[in-house]
Parts: sequence; C-alpha cells; structure tokens
Amino acid sequence: MSEAKIAPSILACDFSRLGEEIRAVEAGGADWIHVDVMDGHFVPNISIGPVITEGARRSTDLPLDVHLMIEQPERYLEAFVKAGADSLTVHVETCPELAGTVAKIHALGVRAGVAVNPATPVESVRDVAADIELLLVMSVHPGFGGQKYIEGSTDKIRAARAMLDETGSVAELEVDGGVDVGNAAEVAGAGATVLVAGSAVYAYPDGAGAGVRAIRSALRG
Ligand code: DX5
Ligand code: ZN
Repeated sequence: MSEAKIAPSILACDFSRLGEEIRAVEAGGADWIHVDVMDGHFVPNISIGPVITEGARRSTDLPLDVHLMIEQPERYLEAFVKAGADSLTVHVETCPELAGTVAKIHALGVRAGVAVNPATPVESVRDVAADIELLLVMSVHPGFGGQKYIEGSTDKIRAARAMLDETGSVAELEVDGGVDVGNAAEVAGAGATVLVAGSAVYAYPDGAGAGVRAIRSALRG
C-alpha cells in the first residue's frame, strides 16, 4: 500500500502571506493543498471563495483540493474550476441529486469528491462510490479548524474503506478534521489515503514545512 498523501488546509494559514504559506508546505513535501470553502449557511462560518482560491492557484502547481461546505454547490462549481480547482468535493447533505452533481463536476473536467459529515453514514454515498475520485470523511463537525478528532471516526474510516473496496471504487479516501502527528498513523492504518491537516501543520512550532514533515514521519512510524 502506498503512503498516504498529506493535504494541508490553508484555512489555518496566515492569509496576509498566502503565497509563502503555501510554498512552505510545498517545500515540506505536501501532496495537495486543501481549500475549505464555507458559506455561513451549511456551516456557521464564512471562509474562502473563488478569489482566494485563484490566489492559491498562482502560488503553487500542487493540486488544489477544494472542499465545498456550501448549500446548493452546483451554483459555484464552474467558478471554482475557473479559479483553478483540480478537484471539487461537495457534501452529500447538500446534494439531493448527488449523481447529477457528480456528473456536473466531471463535465467541468475536474475530479469529483463527496464528503460526509460525522452524523451521516458512509452508506449514503454507496450509489455513486464507483463514479467518484474522492470520498471525504469528516472527523469533526465542519465549520472551524482546530477542533478535536472525533474518536469514532476511525471505525467510520474502516467502514468507508470497506464500502469503496466492495463497490470496486478506486476513489481516494480523505479524512478531514483534527488530524495531527499523534493520530495520523491510526487514520492511515484504517484505510485513509489522504490526510487533511490544518492547525497541526500551520501551528506547528517549527513552522508549517516542519509540520508536514512531522506528519510524514509519523506515517512512516
Ligand atoms: C473543517 C474543515 C477542515 C479543517 C481542518 O470544517 O473542513 O479542513 O479546517 O483543520 P484542522 O486540521 O485544524 O482540524
Ligand atoms: Zn476541509
């Protein structure tokens, strides 16, 4: 099994220095840049939109992994693709016609992801599992960085891993929320292939690049 990818979340970075903060994690060996988009409706916080995403795009060639925590995400898919997203992840809770939304993302030429909140069973995604490139399991209630990993998430990651394997899906299994040096190996061991880390990277005492390297060494045991 190949080593899990690390996707630092810029939500936790210093936005007065966005380019430098992205280059720091790139130098530390980050695989993707995770962009947390919040609308103040689906989640209680407002964060990044297409303008900042476009700024991130100009700062790196790494894939931009855009996580849409917004209602009616269909309205904004094209704007985020134009801003430079390489993948768009929508929440199953916001998509009454999930298969159609996935098809719209594909029609825009980018990878499609589907996210599930802590209270949402992974079974809600089974019907589209074989058609998506990414399944994102939230390990905190979305809306804010810096929260504690919900312990039951590890069992849910195992259930998601089993469902992807049963459906023949080759989708990445991404875990988002409270991932740090202390639990990264457990999360990857349960079957995650992409670890999102915000505060664990950007609040790392020796800097964000060192934060990525610390998670990498935790994965290597
Ligand atoms: C939560 C976001 C996460 C979060 C990760 O709503 O989707 O990506 O910012 O941050 P940490 O790693 O600090 O939990
Ligand atoms: Zn996220």
